Amino acid sequence: MTTLPVDGDLFRTLLRHQASTVTVVTAPGTPPAGFTATSFTSVSLAPPLVSFCLGRTSSSWPAVAVADHVAVHLLSHRQQGLARTFATSGIDRFAAPTRWRTGPHGVPVLDGTLAFLVCQVVNRVGAGDHVVVLAEPLLARHADGDYPLLYHRGGYTCLTPAPAAPDLLALDGAGQQLLFGAARTANTFTDDPVADEQIQAIHHLIRNAPTAFNSQPLRVVLVRSAQARQRLLPHLGRRNRAKTAAAPLVLILAADTAFHEHLPRVYPHRPELRDVFDADLAARQAQARFNAALQIGYLIVGIRAAGLAAGPMAGFDPAGIDAEYFPDGRLRSLLVVNVGQPGPDAWAERLPRLHYDDVVHTA
Ligand SMILES: Cc1cc2nc3c(=O)[nH]c(=O)nc-3n(C[C@H](O)[C@H](O)[C@H](O)COP(=O)(O)O)c2cc1C
Repeated sequence: MTTLPVDGDLFRTLLRHQASTVTVVTAPGTPPAGFTATSFTSVSLAPPLVSFCLGRTSSSWPAVAVADHVAVHLLSHRQQGLARTFATSGIDRFAAPTRWRTGPHGVPVLDGTLAFLVCQVVNRVGAGDHVVVLAEPLLARHADGDYPLLYHRGGYTCLTPAPAAPDLLALDGAGQQLLFGAARTANTFTDDPVADEQIQAIHHLIRNAPTAFNSQPLRVVLVRSAQARQRLLPHLGRRNRAKTAAAPLVLILAADTAFHEHLPRVYPHRPELRDVFDADLAARQAQARFNAALQIGYLIVGIRAAGLAAGPMAGFDPAGIDAEYFPDGRLRSLLVVNVGQPGPDAWAERLPRLHYDDVVHTA
């Protein structure tokens, strides 16, 4: 390895090796100021002090130069869009889709971040073409269970906790995080709509996943309108109502107990199965429930693959939903699922999972 004198180009190249937490710093003002910063760091524990750096030519500098208080937001790995918005010149960074409110001491507080600190500015120290701002955290809030957004090698990335066998999975780290590692069950949602096209794309992705006899008994009802939702809410468990009322899209997932009508088309090499199932209602119902449940698993993963969060709920009165939506008795409700972009405080703490040895035994 050759050592070289550090010029501007080498300095910038070297910094590409540093992985940084992506933050957005906001300051009060009319209009308020805010910018994406990877320079945030803790400085002192007693008293608590943090710092971030800002270029003197930055459009945010005039506001930060006079601010008594600022907020530092640590972004979640889902907030690349927010990071880009607050790094884009010449736009209103606080306009929709940015969601924010005025917080303590008048600082703008952004919605849905992993954590934020409202800080009092205690010092500004000039350092080259930047100013190091030292600030004392006064108030803080954080959410567990999500991963931070990072900046590395000139692009946004996120942590991939070392898997048990890193080389044994074909799916890349980002895909693992999106589908399982960082994916969570959402209990709150933003107002961002979920388009029919997104549901079509999810269906297209998961429709090739396997079911017995290729039976594909899952049926999906999209509940969008206020009227359709009012029919649904009374049948939900009390703790599931408010979040379902506020979700941008709700799915009623049901098993088609007459799935066998499609068997001549989807399982043509065993045409007699249609009549076998036609004569055996109990077998049909069992197959419908089992295979629709399998497809529900695929669907939840598909929702995550579309960058959305699912909130599945079995806490409802199936007889009530069936009478309301499926009065002819052919479809049987299995699950209600809220779908959307996760909102503020979307999830509870991650619950423990069973270990490999609890689950897998060799016969
Ligand atoms: C089939 C099923 C039924 C569920 N029913 C409910 C429910 O009625 N109400 C609720 O708040 N959460 C419900 N959940 C959410 C689970 O508690 C949650 O997915 C689980 O704790 C894992 O959370 P995590 O993905 O955030 O780690 C249900 C989940 C599934 C898959």
